Amino acid sequence: MNPHLGGGPEPAEVKDPWRVVAGPAIAVVDTMNAPHSPLSHFPIVFIYSGFCAPGRDGNSNMSTILLTGASGVVGGALLPRLRGHRVIALTRRRAVSGVSLRGDVSAPGLGLGGAEHRGLLGEVDTVVHCAAVTDFGVGAERTNEVNVLGTERILEFTAAAGARLVYLSTAFVTREREAADAASPLAYVASKIAAEEQVRAAGLPTAIVRPSVVIGDSVTGALAPIQGFYAFLRSVLRDQVRGVVPCGPGDRVDFVPSDVVAGALAALVDLAATGEFWLTSGEHAPTAQRLFELAEHAAARGGRRLAPVRLASTRTARRLAGAARPGGAAGDLHGRLAELLGLAVMFDGAAPFPTSLGTIQGGPPAPSTESVEAAFLAALDYISREHVRPVRGPRPPAPRAALAGRTPVAPG
Ligand SMILES: NC(=O)c1ccc[n+]([C@@H]2O[C@H](COP(=O)([O-])OP(=O)(O)OC[C@H]3O[C@@H](n4cnc5c(N)ncnc54)[C@H](OP(=O)(O)O)[C@@H]3O)[C@@H](O)[C@H]2O)c1
Repeated sequence: MNPHLGGGPEPAEVKDPWRVVAGPAIAVVDTMNAPHSPLSHFPIVFIYSGFCAPGRDGNSNMSTILLTGASGVVGGALLPRLRGHRVIALTRRRAVSGVSLRGDVSAPGLGLGGAEHRGLLGEVDTVVHCAAVTDFGVGAERTNEVNVLGTERILEFTAAAGARLVYLSTAFVTREREAADAASPLAYVASKIAAEEQVRAAGLPTAIVRPSVVIGDSVTGALAPIQGFYAFLRSVLRDQVRGVVPCGPGDRVDFVPSDVVAGALAALVDLAATGEFWLTSGEHAPTAQRLFELAEHAAARGGRRLAPVRLASTRTARRLAGAARPGGAAGDLHGRLAELLGLAVMFDGAAPFPTSLGTIQGGPPAPSTESVEAAFLAALDYISREHVRPVRGPRPPAPRAALAGRTPVAPG
């Protein structure tokens, strides 16, 4: 039996009385919550084989979805949006509520038992593939194993199931040259480019979805676990980023809230859409200068004053880093710049990304400068509240109050 079944965290409160709350091998149907059921006084436990979904009867819009990476930032935001469908989550270590299988996308048969795998092949009609290595420090071999070989296995599964695939790529596939310069995200970006090529070559009904940097929810700002961009903003708000920041003042830093990504993905699933979709702020992405202005504003509300920073193009910053050798008087500057340079070249002087937001039927509206800045301020407030101790005065306001007078991004 799959070790996730019954072994993970407690399932979320059962709202749908007929929902399967354990796994595909043993199902617990919560009849106690079905008020009109003759069985309402007898919780039933029974054993069945395969997934109980009526499946592809063509009579409803309900799909049976295999969602990989459901415990991650994107999959975690998407999962509650797929309530109208049957979702089978596949993760590697962390189980999620609902039907949650432990597997490995890079292993034959997705690391599932034979019966489990066959059961899935018979039921799944849509695969949403969010599982990936997103940590730039993991190294090319492991990154390729999960991101490239894993996608190949998912394509094999999708073909054998006669399903369609929604594949999560990244908007940064267009910045390969910059990534090659940057060293740290190169393996990741290269793996996403290779995986996209496989998806295009497969000849299956597929949607390739390209978010930029995913931040937290557009209203609460919440993001767990914290990822690279939030870690950088946390350092900014703690006033640990000083001196030169290797980003030109006019460089656009593109990000997109997790609920906007989830809303767009849910709409693409409902539409059975195929093609390529950009989930970005596009020309509304703030410049680096504006980003620091907003950070100063958020820090001030937490009683903090940030030391001024100098924004410099990566070329200028490289010169400065070269002058500040490790061990020298400015060795600290060298270390910090080298680290930031690894990422900043991805934003350096690049044209805005295209965006598909606002064009996906039933999905989130097009971004505006106002909505993007509101989401960014929510992110800053969240980071201040959760990760930065205020120097003096009151803590930053709670999300609702913080949004007064601003326009939140309406989730799709
Ligand atoms: N976050 C962003 O800023 C961003 C931006 C653009 C594109 N994307 C893309 O969006 C997708 C989701 O990213 P994310 O940020 O949500 O990732 P994440 O938070 O790092 O989560 C990764 C997910 O993949 C699962 N996973 C990793 N290796 C696996 C394996 N071998 N087999 C099965 N599952 C495995 C993890 O499961 P466990 O938790 O159990 O280990 C986790 O659920 C990725 O394709 C990423 O490239 C993300």
